[in-house]
Amino acid sequence: MLKDKVEYYNDLLKDKTPQDVLSFFYNEFNDKIALSSSLGAEDQVLTDMIAKHARGMRIFTLDTGRLFPETYSLISRTNDKYGIKIHIMFPDYKSVEKMVKDKGINLFYESVENRKLCCHIRKIEPLKRAFKDLDVWVCGLRASQSVTRQNVHIVEWDEPNALIKINPLANWSEDDVWDYIKKNGVPYNALHNKGFPSIGCQPCTRAIADGEDIRAGRWWWENPETKECGLHKR
Ligand code: ADX
Ligand code: SF4
Repeated sequence: MLKDKVEYYNDLLKDKTPQDVLSFFYNEFNDKIALSSSLGAEDQVLTDMIAKHARGMRIFTLDTGRLFPETYSLISRTNDKYGIKIHIMFPDYKSVEKMVKDKGINLFYESVENRKLCCHIRKIEPLKRAFKDLDVWVCGLRASQSVTRQNVHIVEWDEPNALIKINPLANWSEDDVWDYIKKNGVPYNALHNKGFPSIGCQPCTRAIADGEDIRAGRWWWENPETKECGLHKR
């Protein structure tokens, strides 16, 4: 059973670099492992590491249809720089059409329930489709990112999806991420220079002021406890 190996992998890899973690898992799982990239700073670091140490590992992104123009531009720049093709998953158009017809184009501002419905249709359902042939899911989560992520480990069992989930940057700080980006000339979202540390969909992300929490600009009208899109059930 995959699940039984999580503890063993965690012990084996707990002191290894993210590069070692990625190449270890790629060698073990080949076409059964993929990075889900939001094109955020952490995912760009992982993409650079994959291009150098786990070349060939699949990378996919969930295009919700509501992303920033800067994010689309980054997909294209990243593909060009590394000679890769980030696979783009789209939501089911019938579900989107029904949701918008029933609840309006900007339904997410009206209730947490509406917001979660939109995230479900635009992100979760396509993500589940992407998981169909996978054993291992690579993510850019870090423990210091938010109150909801304090217990993030390098290797975890993702119960809802019955997958091994790995977070190679679990123990990195925000400074570690940016040092790596600068040192390696990693392409990053132009919005990061305009006060956006964490970038999701355009209507649900805003710039933050100096000193504000790094996730304060995501779903800023909700409480910190509800501010997860459901991708990462903890
Ligand atoms: S979110 O839950 O708030 O949206 P965040 O932006 O911090 O997540 O990203 C955390 C991790 O979730 C990313 O490192 C990535 O693995 C995954 N992720 C988030 N959004 C997407 C997306 N649009 N496409 C693919 N993966 C995503
Ligand atoms: Fe919809 Fe906002 Fe969730 Fe994007 S982040 S899927 S626009 S609710």
